[in-house]
Amino acid sequence: MLAKTDAAGATGLLPEVLAFSSSLSLDSRLLREDLVGSLAHLTMLARRGIVPKADASRIREHLVSLFEQAVAGGLELPAEEDVHMAVEAHLTQALGETAGLLHTARSRNDQVALDLRLHVRAQASRALGQLAELVEALATRAETEGHLVLPSYTHRQRAQPVSLGYTLCAWAAAFARDVEALRFVLSQTDALPLGVGAVGGTSLPIDREVTRELLGFSRLTLNGMDTVGDRDFALDFAYATARCLLHTGRVATDMVDFSTSEFGFVTLEGTIACGSSMMPQKRNPDVFELIRGKTGRAVGNLTGLLVTLKGLPGGYNRDLQEDRQPLLETGPLLCDVLGMLKLGLGNVRFNAERMHAALEGDYTQATDVAEALAMKGVPFRTAYKAVGTLVRRLQEARLPLAKVTLELAQGVHPAFDAEVLKAADVRRSVERKANAGGTGPSSVAAQVAQLKRFAVEARDAAQRVPTLEGLFSKLKEAPL
Ligand code: ARG
Repeated sequence: MLAKTDAAGATGLLPEVLAFSSSLSLDSRLLREDLVGSLAHLTMLARRGIVPKADASRIREHLVSLFEQAVAGGLELPAEEDVHMAVEAHLTQALGETAGLLHTARSRNDQVALDLRLHVRAQASRALGQLAELVEALATRAETEGHLVLPSYTHRQRAQPVSLGYTLCAWAAAFARDVEALRFVLSQTDALPLGVGAVGGTSLPIDREVTRELLGFSRLTLNGMDTVGDRDFALDFAYATARCLLHTGRVATDMVDFSTSEFGFVTLEGTIACGSSMMPQKRNPDVFELIRGKTGRAVGNLTGLLVTLKGLPGGYNRDLQEDRQPLLETGPLLCDVLGMLKLGLGNVRFNAERMHAALEGDYTQATDVAEALAMKGVPFRTAYKAVGTLVRRLQEARLPLAKVTLELAQGVHPAFDAEVLKAADVRRSVERKANAGGTGPSSVAAQVAQLKRFAVEARDAAQRVPTLEGLFSKLKEAPL
């Protein structure tokens, strides 16, 4: 049964209304953030002489012990309306009236905005570290197995020969953009909301700069009326997550397809292949299907947040409490999927022969042959048509392009010669592409190097973000 202290006002509330309006079941997950925020606020109040140091020190002792119990997992919160009131009730049980000093110059409106920002900051930096690892792993594999060749696809039809290194770098390039998106999320989140009160500020002589410094934010939010109703940082995180999971979902689809007997490009190790309860022969790619499936949840969370925010009037509105479910799911979902994709890809074997055979038996080098002809001075459109005719003749003769003879080719266009036909060699097709951003070995080496640098920068950026644990150890003994 939820209780309600008179601290939150309206003591006559029906129990059903209280149960309906409570957010404790969700926001109890913000307990550590809430305690760290309270420690910083208390320190500021003491330094400004708003709360006597002796009282501040007693309150701090209790907050510190709550944080330690929360970390150890042994803390039972009183059944209050939300995590903020639960902490206050706990403090009040222990310290009586003194506990009431902590909420001076603070509202739950700026308090919850702080807790959410601390949460997003921690989750986004954790995901950033995981993205760094994923990009690094893909770039490293692009070095070791990058020379293997396979078809690339457009319209899910075989298109052009590419190297495996190029394919792995393509995936990593999308994740590198997700790194940038998360860094944007971190910069949007990096403003202290605390100190603006319920909506209009406070007449007490607080100093938000002190709190800002203690909590490791680089700036203050500009305007309190905006601050208490602002969940843009949450939207940005939900969007970055949804977009990142679109990427993980696309890689997962490639894995699902590539592991079919129709493609046969990869084999799932027994460590990740799931069985069927009925068909004994099955080795299913459930892990990748689930990675793809989780994208729907991320899109749903983003949509849910957008709809919650749509049409709200200025200032604080209780609707905002509905941000909790989608937002608190976002970070763990992102981190879970990133971790599982890295693990899944690490337990996949690429089958060099099957990938090569898909090229050898097909016509994916046709563009290269046309380009070789164009290099001889034949206008590209003419060369394109000649190779088109050549391919159709080979198809009628049931021969792959790799088996083309000079005689057959010259019957189509006199400019074909032995040198032009060398372009039908699958490996040469890959090697000839020297353009930046192409599949040629030197271009892929440059891509790998760039991605590796990117991964290092992402890891460093993640490590620079203050952690809750770090803030707590500083705050528990900061001068009052
Ligand atoms: N539980 C509320 C939330 O999460 C805290 C803020 C409540 N503010 C208020 N004015 N009732 O949004």
